[in-house]
Amino acid sequence: MHPTDPIPPDLALAWLALQAEWGAVDGLADTPQDHTKRPLRAEPAAVIARRPATPAPPRAATLPITAAPAAAQSLAGLRAALEAFDDCALKRTATQLVFADGSETARIMLIGEAPGGEEDRAGRPFVGPAGQLLDRMLASIGLDRTLVRIVNVVPWRPPGNRNPSEAEIAQCLPFLHQHIALIRPQRLLLLGAVAVRALIGGKEGISRVRGSWKPVAIPGLDQPVRAMATYHPAFLLRQPAAKRLAWTDLLTLRQDCVEAGVLDDAALQKTQSITES
Ligand code: URA
Repeated sequence: MHPTDPIPPDLALAWLALQAEWGAVDGLADTPQDHTKRPLRAEPAAVIARRPATPAPPRAATLPITAAPAAAQSLAGLRAALEAFDDCALKRTATQLVFADGSETARIMLIGEAPGGEEDRAGRPFVGPAGQLLDRMLASIGLDRTLVRIVNVVPWRPPGNRNPSEAEIAQCLPFLHQHIALIRPQRLLLLGAVAVRALIGGKEGISRVRGSWKPVAIPGLDQPVRAMATYHPAFLLRQPAAKRLAWTDLLTLRQDCVEAGVLDDAALQKTQSITES
């Protein structure tokens, strides 16, 4: 194909899909840009050297404090507050809000990181490959989505599935706190480092903090909630050797919930067969 030949539509579409997958958001710019009019040759080094240096985005050592939104009185109110919240840039590139899944009366709440492409399209957390592994992990200890609440630290997909920035986490954290305060879970399972960073803080890696219980203070709740971290299912898909440790974390969660009476009779019946096997 010659460079001046028109690009076949199916090739153009495949290329656009790849760009979107890698996080290109230029197509969403306010004013259209004709990239064919850009100079083809690189600018001379002297011109580049005269340009003022672009400041790097500030990196906060700790999560920046953002103003707390008015406390929602219900989950519907919280969803409406998020739908109306325009300060987080992720919202502008995401297809839709990915609010939550699972039971509104769950005693166990799972906190993931951020929606991926499939969650963004479905409007539901953990529906892609990581979500399917999460379902199998829950089933392995007799749980399913009817017995837990599943949310993410940020409810909009970061472009290209990058990690949410510290500022984005800080903007969304008050809503996550409110979600936890409305559900009032007795146990939190933090899936991966982003959830640990948001709710426990500190700089320790997930390998160090996973598997043990930590109290997490949540604004609006009188008592801290017991939280345990484990590996994120997406990490386990890449590093299957870590599944053994994640399995011990799940057993710890189940045993703790059984001993503390966190699971009610119906839930206990589901986990019973596992306990006896
Ligand atoms: N990974 C997450 O952390 N959350 C999702 O919803 C999907 C993948």
